[in-house]
Amino acid sequence: MVRTLSLVGLAATVAAQFNINHTQYGTSPPVYPSPQMSGAGGWEGALEKAQAFLAELTTEEKAQIVTGTAGPCVGNIGPIERLSFSGLCLQDGPLAIRQAIYASVFSAGLSSAASWDRRLVRQRGAYIGAEFRGKGAHVALGPVVGPLSRSPFGGRNWEGFSPDSYLSGVLVEESVYGIQSAGVQACIKHYIGNEQETQRNPSTVNGTTIEAISSNVDDKTMHETYLWPFANAVRAGTASIMCSYNRINGSYGCQNSKTLNGLLKDELGFQGYVMSDWLATHSGVASIEAGLDMDMPGGITFVIPNPSFFGGNVTTAVNNGSLSTQRVDDMVLRIMTPYFHLKQDVDFPPIDNFSSRLGFFPASEYLYNFTLGPIVDVRQEQHAQLIRDLGAAGTVLLKNANGALPLKTPKNIGVFGNDAADLTQGQYSLSSTGTTLFQGDYNIGTLAVGGGSGTGRFTYVVSPLEAIKARGRSYGAIVQYITDNEYLTLGGLAALAPAPPEVCIVFLKSWASEGSDRSTLIAEWNSTVIVNQTATLCNNTVVVLHGAAPNTMPWRDNPNVTAIIAAHMPGQESGNSIADILWGDVDPSGRLPYTIANEETDYAKNLVNSTALVTSTDPDAWQADFVEGNLIDYKEFDARNASVAFEFGFGLSYTTFNISNLQVQVNGSNASRTPNPAAPVRPGGNIELWATLATVSVTVSNTGSVSGATVPQLYLSYPEEANAPHRSLRGFEKVVLSAGISGTLNFPLTRRDLSYWDTRTQQWTLPTGAIEVHAGFSSRNLPLRGSLTV
Ligand SMILES: *[C@@H]1O[C@H](CO)[C@@H](O)[C@H](O)[C@H]1NC(C)=O
Ligand SMILES: *[C@@H]1O[C@H](CO)[C@@H](O)[C@H](O)[C@H]1NC(C)=O
Ligand SMILES: *[C@@H]1O[C@H](CO)[C@@H](O)[C@H](O)[C@H]1NC(C)=O
Ligand SMILES: *[C@@H]1O[C@H](CO)[C@@H](O)[C@H](O)[C@H]1NC(C)=O
Ligand SMILES: *[C@@H]1O[C@H](CO)[C@@H](O)[C@H](O)[C@H]1NC(C)=O
Ligand SMILES: *[C@@H]1O[C@H](CO)[C@@H](O)[C@H](O)[C@H]1NC(C)=O
Ligand SMILES: *[C@@H]1O[C@H](CO)[C@@H](O)[C@H](O)[C@H]1NC(C)=O
Ligand SMILES: *[C@@H]1O[C@H](CO)[C@@H](O)[C@H](O)[C@H]1NC(C)=O
Ligand SMILES: *[C@@H]1O[C@H](CO)[C@@H](O)[C@H](O)[C@H]1NC(C)=O
Ligand SMILES: *[C@@H]1O[C@H](CO)[C@@H](O)[C@H](O)[C@H]1NC(C)=O
Ligand SMILES: *[C@@H]1O[C@H](CO)[C@@H](O)[C@H](O)[C@H]1NC(C)=O
Ligand SMILES: *[C@@H]1O[C@H](CO)[C@@H](O)[C@H](O)[C@H]1NC(C)=O
Repeated sequence: MVRTLSLVGLAATVAAQFNINHTQYGTSPPVYPSPQMSGAGGWEGALEKAQAFLAELTTEEKAQIVTGTAGPCVGNIGPIERLSFSGLCLQDGPLAIRQAIYASVFSAGLSSAASWDRRLVRQRGAYIGAEFRGKGAHVALGPVVGPLSRSPFGGRNWEGFSPDSYLSGVLVEESVYGIQSAGVQACIKHYIGNEQETQRNPSTVNGTTIEAISSNVDDKTMHETYLWPFANAVRAGTASIMCSYNRINGSYGCQNSKTLNGLLKDELGFQGYVMSDWLATHSGVASIEAGLDMDMPGGITFVIPNPSFFGGNVTTAVNNGSLSTQRVDDMVLRIMTPYFHLKQDVDFPPIDNFSSRLGFFPASEYLYNFTLGPIVDVRQEQHAQLIRDLGAAGTVLLKNANGALPLKTPKNIGVFGNDAADLTQGQYSLSSTGTTLFQGDYNIGTLAVGGGSGTGRFTYVVSPLEAIKARGRSYGAIVQYITDNEYLTLGGLAALAPAPPEVCIVFLKSWASEGSDRSTLIAEWNSTVIVNQTATLCNNTVVVLHGAAPNTMPWRDNPNVTAIIAAHMPGQESGNSIADILWGDVDPSGRLPYTIANEETDYAKNLVNSTALVTSTDPDAWQADFVEGNLIDYKEFDARNASVAFEFGFGLSYTTFNISNLQVQVNGSNASRTPNPAAPVRPGGNIELWATLATVSVTVSNTGSVSGATVPQLYLSYPEEANAPHRSLRGFEKVVLSAGISGTLNFPLTRRDLSYWDTRTQQWTLPTGAIEVHAGFSSRNLPLRGSLTV
């Protein structure tokens, strides 16, 4: 089939580079049978318990364990009282126990990524895990590394971390360790190629079923970009993985044997279970054979009546011989082993009673008796403190002219924009649009997290205005504010006192939610007019952006815009996080986990969408060819040597840093080019992939006059044989240094870090030539250079 490519120019260049032949897409190679788990890598004891449990089960009960059912949680596995199994409670989402009351709303994945802070991200995971456990949820549906953010327009990018697979890999690993340290199962979503919301599910046009978008990804890109962070999550021992709505090479995510049996369970040695995204299962036995272990949410009879392909069908299929008992047993073992490994069979709290009232299913639909407990408050003071700290740590200072920041003690402060205000339309943005209850994209009110299933229900949010007023009051300043953008657009600044503020802080926001993609990268609600008008009045205008990112900034060179801050999605302590940065209590140490282009049109848009597609009656019309290969975000801009507004990894501090003394140490040269095929495969893949083969060290000094934090970064340029991007991030560390102090940093490099994926031999392969090493403070500020040969 001939398809029209939307990005012809770029497509031609990169397609040639990556040898993509489009007519070869449309099939995904069959990989059968589904690998059986072994418990290898630390789950051996738990597997024995799961086996003993399995031995007691009837076929009907096995079908029950692998099929969701109506219950108090977003996803439920029914209890088996005879065996003291109270069932499983699965809850959204990646930044909060979503619909709960008396729970915290944490910083989003986007803010976590912008912090580049392993320690805070692990702590966030542990606290999120503690809140889920406190409310009786066995499985937290997060974190997210799919979408990876192939396109800056992706509606769910903020739920995950960064378009850089290495950065996302490190942070997903820390998150899994954190969540599971609290005794809660992590579920990594959405596997794989889930890079746009538009047509993520099948639709109907004039009675014809139009299939979901197909993400067509070549093998090299799959390994080097999209699968990479999932490998980290598997290595960290994630209990579960959620397969995605989209198709991959024409085959649905939850019945793609190449991605599930082949890549995930065989190559990465994944020992846990694959659950479907909600209603993403499109077949029974076929999906099971392809590697799907659990169907969610199971059969439902309301909203969208949808019987399960699993449930009774699994029993029938086993009884009539079309499905082997061995495969069903493996599904059950994969589900029950992490349950025993995390000791969820011992003293696990009952399901919080909030769920029965605010959950996904009406109680009249329940088929089982779930044990409910009282409503508990799982919030903790240290959770709120962490949210405040991470919110500030994930804030990136992009411009700071004329010493605008940190603020000293301005007596007359202006605060403008609808994002500065407290919420005005409720505290729960479940809906993607502004047209229904649980509004998304509301006008007046700060945007502290995005919408959809990845949102949280705020018990409170500290608005920027509230926090700034409190600061001002503490030293007698006046705060003049207007938070109605319509009023501002119509000239509302004229209402200010004749003495213009010494500093005008403009708060802008960009909405994003599950269910739709972004249609613009410019902040909403007439942001450009509002910044321009404020800057006309105020020659010291500080612009703060909240919400989805990246955002392009048409006013960024306006000399009266003295400071620009990308504040992302900080969570419930939003106002305190930004005030800590504005007044300099916290040095801005956030760095961009993506690229900000000069213009929106500079991004290769990479979203597949058009009126012609929306109205097409071709069932196979929606095809996303990942023709750019590994060249997304900074790798794409670097490949074109294109200028950008603010590059990946960039961010300013209130102090200055120097980096020097790059040293390369190779641990035993003459390593074999590929890992020993006889070495064991453990969760994460062949264990030799994770061995450290080299270490790069640098010295970092705080050369300014105040204490601060920065993020030294290490990038590698591989020799030509690797057919790799110009530079790839392969090391980073957040370091806090007092003024005048220096420290040495080590960047360990594993075999995987140093290798490229050889599609012919199907092996991670060390290049024979020298690898260039670059170190510095952003993807385009790399003063140190060395070389490394393994
Ligand atoms: C692309 O693949 C198809 C099917 O395998 C083949 O017929 C065609 O010759 C290939 N085209 C190129 C340019 O290699
Ligand atoms: C998708 O097709 C490409 C091109 O033939 C191939 O390299 C890749 O391995 C396939 N991936 C999957 C998951 O089917
Ligand atoms: C089996 O699957 C079909 C298709 O979803 C469904 O209509 C039917 O109700 C299922 N049967 C049972 C017993 O669950
Ligand atoms: C066995 O049961 C499954 C599930 O109900 C059904 O799809 C399949 O057609 C049956 N096969 C035979 C041979 O009866
Ligand atoms: C639920 O509990 C009621 C009352 O104890 C009992 O009659 C019923 O059989 C139970 N249902 C299930 C599915 O266990
Ligand atoms: C849960 O809430 C319902 C409705 O308010 C109430 O009837 C029930 O007794 C509560 N159960 C527990 C265990 O608190
Ligand atoms: C945006 O600006 C237009 C006029 O330029 C105005 O009609 C509209 O009400 C403004 N909307 C908001 C939310 O500011
Ligand atoms: C805002 O200002 C910039 C530069 O000063 C200008 O290019 C742009 O047209 C202005 N936009 C609006 C909407 O006034
Ligand atoms: C900058 O601010 C001054 C007032 O201090 C104003 O006169 C000037 O027009 C402003 N410039 C821009 C580009 O808005
Ligand atoms: C900025 O504006 C203030 C008054 O609002 C004025 O005193 C100051 O000179 C201006 N600075 C510049 C550089 O124009
Ligand atoms: C997708 O295309 C349709 C039809 O042209 C349009 O209405 C919609 O806004 C587009 N979506 C995005 C996210 O651009
Ligand atoms: C769908 O059906 C309507 C009415 O039958 C017709 O006018 C329209 O052209 C059809 N659309 C497509 C895309 O075939």
